[in-house]
Amino acid sequence: MTSFNYITSFFLFLTIFSLSDAGFIGINYGRIANDLPSPTSVVQLLKTQGINKVKLYDTEPTVLKALSGSNISVVVALPNELLSNASQSQSFANDWVKNNILAYYPSTQIETIAVGNEVFVDPNNTTMFLVPAMKNIHSALVNSSLDSNIKISSPIALSCLASSYPSSSGSFKPELIQPVITPMLDFLRSSGSYLMVNAYPYFAYEGNADVISLDYALFRENSGQVDSGNGLKYVSLMDAQLDAVYAAMSALKYDDLKMVVSETGWPSKGDESETGAGQDNAAAYNGNLVRRVLTGGGTPLRPKQDLEVYLFALFNENQKTGPTSEKNYGLFYPSEQKVYNIPLTVAGLAGWNGGKTQSTPTPSPSPSPVNNSGGDGGGTVSTSGVGHTWCVANGKLGVKKLQTGLDYACGEGGADCSQIQPGATCYDPNTIEAHATFAFNSYYQKKNRAMGTCDFGGAAFVVTQAPKFGKCQLSPGN
Ligand SMILES: *[C@@H]1O[C@H](CO)[C@@H](O)[C@H](O)[C@H]1NC(C)=O
Ligand SMILES: *[C@@H]1O[C@H](CO)[C@@H](O)[C@H](O)[C@H]1NC(C)=O
Ligand SMILES: *[C@@H]1O[C@H](CO)[C@@H](O)[C@H](O)[C@H]1NC(C)=O
Ligand SMILES: *[C@@H]1O[C@H](CO)[C@@H](O)[C@H](O)[C@H]1NC(C)=O
Ligand SMILES: *[C@@H]1O[C@H](CO)[C@@H](O)[C@H](O)[C@H]1NC(C)=O
Ligand SMILES: *[C@@H]1O[C@H](CO)[C@@H](O)[C@H](O)[C@H]1NC(C)=O
Repeated sequence: MTSFNYITSFFLFLTIFSLSDAGFIGINYGRIANDLPSPTSVVQLLKTQGINKVKLYDTEPTVLKALSGSNISVVVALPNELLSNASQSQSFANDWVKNNILAYYPSTQIETIAVGNEVFVDPNNTTMFLVPAMKNIHSALVNSSLDSNIKISSPIALSCLASSYPSSSGSFKPELIQPVITPMLDFLRSSGSYLMVNAYPYFAYEGNADVISLDYALFRENSGQVDSGNGLKYVSLMDAQLDAVYAAMSALKYDDLKMVVSETGWPSKGDESETGAGQDNAAAYNGNLVRRVLTGGGTPLRPKQDLEVYLFALFNENQKTGPTSEKNYGLFYPSEQKVYNIPLTVAGLAGWNGGKTQSTPTPSPSPSPVNNSGGDGGGTVSTSGVGHTWCVANGKLGVKKLQTGLDYACGEGGADCSQIQPGATCYDPNTIEAHATFAFNSYYQKKNRAMGTCDFGGAAFVVTQAPKFGKCQLSPGN
């Protein structure tokens, strides 16, 4: 989808559809930290940010009380440590529901109980307890006639897939299917619930940055990838990840189950080895994701199923273990200051610039502007459309390299170079750098901005604002 279509459909969406037709954005309120604000302050923060869905990792009484009467829907969790007991004893499950759910519901709007979290990768191997625990908690809800008000699910990690690329080949690990996947999907279906998936394009990017484009991972404009299995085109890694899960379910004949993204996020800081971690990328990922979700629509495989997503996470959590990134997924510091500024509501989308900060490495850190032969605004940039990119010549590399690239682009490359011929609109300024920029950009746009098509032996790089020189302004379609 081009940016122009994107913008058009966005405004169409705003005018034609009611907002409740779109997906939702919730947030994970993790508390592995010793410096977080009080739960009451946190509830105020959520309200001022327009967030009306929150996901917790337990049933902490002070948090559930603070959420009472807030009109914020809550996903609570039964921690992995209790799975064994909940699976072996109906009375344990009954007591747990009584003390942790009934004591707060309905003034605290508990809508789902996550029974366990990423159970298949729990080092204590609690997998065999999962489905029996879900069933016992469900029976306890049935006993209180709350089973139609409160759903039961369990977030799974993408590592439960044996295959996820291409997306259409998605399948669950064979050793999990019979023991737990099939019984769980049966339970979700029969109880009218849905699958919860924790999906992190960041991990896929971090481990494969040499082959995955950052723009593809960050929902920025890119040429996309066609799935060789089903011919569907993907313009974001997250869509491909979610469709891999849908494909895995489909292979087991569970095409009817809904899916909610129970966690996704991008760290604003990481160790040196953690490729891609950083504030600009985190802002781009989360901001573009929010726009993606709130403007409606689903994945290529399930286009009508709006995305429902809980961001990870509300705060940076200073007591998390592991690499630096683990402590830096928050949208907010414990002081309640924003780590970066992104929209979280439909109203906030209008001011969002698409996270266009250039974070792909360029051959020259401060590229020399395209020279102008005395006209207006030589080398200046103009406002650009959402997510557009242009290809620009790097003047620092010298005439010879630019000329080689120019000759290739206008020759074999098939760029449209008619505008830089004598007398045409973009002939002036008559410099090699300006002409090369025109030709390189024409080639790059013609190749749909595919990876590697703005290089010319290192003589070119991608920018996110339209280059303008003289009367000649390069459109994204040049
Ligand atoms: C509660 O939230 C729902 C949707 O989240 C909204 O439609 C409704 O107006 C809210 N009610 C109050 C009293 O704020
Ligand atoms: C879980 O069960 C074990 C064994 O029956 C028991 O010792 C333990 O106290 C139980 N845990 C909880 C939280 O009830
Ligand atoms: C594993 O089980 C032990 C003993 O019950 C407990 O102390 C530990 O926290 C558990 N580890 C995890 C990751 O749940
Ligand atoms: C976990 O437990 C299940 C069933 O008890 C067993 O089949 C599986 O091999 C165990 N997995 C690991 C990683 O220990
Ligand atoms: C239903 O709940 C009541 C009250 O908590 C309890 O006494 C009873 O054992 C429960 N029944 C079942 C089948 O769990
Ligand atoms: C661009 O203009 C500056 C002075 O305005 C000059 O120093 C530089 O050499 C020019 N670069 C090219 C590639 O023409």
